[in-house]
Amino acid sequence: MEALNQGLRRIPTWSLYVVGLAVAAWVVVPGLSAIDPVRDIERGLGLWAVRFLLLGLMITPLRWVGVNALRFRRQIGLVAFGLVVLHLLTWLVLDMGLRWDQIADDLVKRWYIMIGMASFVLLIPLAVTSNDRSIRWLRKTWVRLHKLAYPAAILAVVHFIMVQKVWGAEILIYAAILAGLLAARVWKFGPSRVVWG
Ligand code: HEM
Repeated sequence: MEALNQGLRRIPTWSLYVVGLAVAAWVVVPGLSAIDPVRDIERGLGLWAVRFLLLGLMITPLRWVGVNALRFRRQIGLVAFGLVVLHLLTWLVLDMGLRWDQIADDLVKRWYIMIGMASFVLLIPLAVTSNDRSIRWLRKTWVRLHKLAYPAAILAVVHFIMVQKVWGAEILIYAAILAGLLAARVWKFGPSRVVWG
């Protein structure tokens, strides 16, 4: 375990932003030549946003078993947020063509859009306060505020499930990872403090 932690310490935190940019390019570049580019790019960005969100939530339970990747958590969270913003922009600009009446219509008529939006809204204060100044200023409130990552992830996975016409193995894997992360918190803190513990 010490060798792994030593290896992790050697990786510069900024490299996570490079990974984030590479992931966005990995989705967008092949997506441009797909049969339905908007759909592929929209879905690809959403999928990677969920992956990074769940990865960020794994950092704490990994610490419980001796893996220390805490120094990457901010970057992982910000990459997840950046991918969500690109996912939202793809929907607003490329899918909806910035037709605000249709956007409003979709928001109220399609529950999965509303749930995705709720997840996004919860992620905004987390992204805005992911800096040293906010940590110093908010102290204990910062720790509590950042527990919003759990409801945000639950809503994101529900949104993901609702988008699927058929339930494949993939969606079950993400739902199981999220359930496992919540179960780990129940095990560690007890059911009443699953999120606020
Ligand atoms: C900001 C508000 C959001 C809007 C308007 C939105 C909209 C959409 C739309 C239109 C789709 C594609 C539906 C289809 O192809 O039929 C989609 C799929 C998806 N979205 Fe969102 N979304 C939002 C937030 C989020 C968030 C916060 C996440 C995750 C962190 C997310 C993750 C996903 C995933 C994983 C998919 C499905 C990808 C797949 O099928 O492989 N979305 N979303």
